[in-house]
Amino acid sequence: VNATQELLLSRIRDVADHPKPGVVFKDITPLLADPVAFTALTDALSEFCVRHGATKIIGLEARGFILAAPVAVRAGIGFIPVRKAGKLPGATLSQAYELEYGSAEIEVHAEDLSAGDRVVVIDDVLATGGTAEASLELIRRAGADVVGVVVLMELGFLGGRARLEPALAGAPLEALITL
Ligand code: PRP
Ligand code: MG
Repeated sequence: VNATQELLLSRIRDVADHPKPGVVFKDITPLLADPVAFTALTDALSEFCVRHGATKIIGLEARGFILAAPVAVRAGIGFIPVRKAGKLPGATLSQAYELEYGSAEIEVHAEDLSAGDRVVVIDDVLATGGTAEASLELIRRAGADVVGVVVLMELGFLGGRARLEPALAGAPLEALITL
């Protein structure tokens, strides 16, 4: 664990039994409230995007927006929101995916992605991988290339990395912290 990881870890708070009994919620609000830690996080995510030659950065609603928007500004790369279904006003591509209980759907404005785009997906947490997998499906359907996925935290015990592997098609998945 290096100094940056140490700093980031120290600003993530465990909240027991949220949102339901037995779940330990990883709360990033202390990290967001600390400008030194938030800057270190933004720099690390930005470095990933530049290293992989991204031309577009996708943030996954909602917490992914908070992390990805400053990265886009820092790196000088366009930001594209992937939203929960029903929020985007224009013509969209949508992708449904399975949750532990039930299902969910995410959308992107179709005009925001085109063939030749090199896209990095940013989110706070990789858990089961369902959300990230659906976002990769949207990118692929738009004809753009995924050049990487980067998250603050990977919950290794939930197997998201294995679930994501086929959709990554060789692109890197990087977690700044693995828990
Ligand atoms: C959380 C988290 C990731 C996703 C990870 O989002 O922010 O986006 O779940 O889970 P998965 O790997 O099993 O798909 P959530 O939709 O719960 O809340 P948010 O709107 O606050 O980001
Ligand atoms: Mg989320």
